Amino acid sequence: MLACAAELTLTPADCATSSVQVAVEGDEIAGVVQVAIEGDEADLTKLFIAPSTMRNGAGRRLFDWAAHTARQNGAKWLRIEADPGAAGFYRRMGAIDDGVTPSGSIPGRFLPRLKYRL
Ligand SMILES: CC(C)(COP(=O)(O)OP(=O)(O)OC[C@H]1O[C@@H](n2cnc3c(N)ncnc32)[C@H](O)[C@@H]1OP(=O)(O)O)[C@@H](O)C(=O)NCCC(=O)NCCS
Repeated sequence: MLACAAELTLTPADCATSSVQVAVEGDEIAGVVQVAIEGDEADLTKLFIAPSTMRNGAGRRLFDWAAHTARQNGAKWLRIEADPGAAGFYRRMGAIDDGVTPSGSIPGRFLPRLKYRL
């Protein structure tokens, strides 16, 4: 994860140019999602749930929010570059496999690419 820190950091500029939502548990932020919409395609650029909150439904809620937001803004497909361990989650959400893509952080590493019909 350290090697990916820069790529995964959310900046004020990200919040100005894309849609961001958090999941809250008590007083804590339990997860975050970011979706960037361009024309009829949208990119799920971030979706992370805190380890202590995983498998509690927060990932599904944030994914549904991102899909709804993209759909409302005219997108037809949501594109996802997944961590290999998270690809099963996206398939569970209804996404289909769409090849692989080079990691932006680790040279030589490839990530599963998926797409979700909105
Ligand atoms: C992947 C992730 C977003 C899922 O969020 P979550 O809150 O744990 O998932 P949910 O509890 O909402 O799970 C929804 C469904 O997906 C399933 N699921 C969750 N994680 C899964 C996984 N890694 N593989 C396969 N299925 C998974 C759940 O069992 C549940 O199934 P159900 O419909 O039968 O109940 C979260 O575990 C995470 O942040 N992982 C680490 C970071 C990461 O890899 N992020 C993705 C970067 S692209």
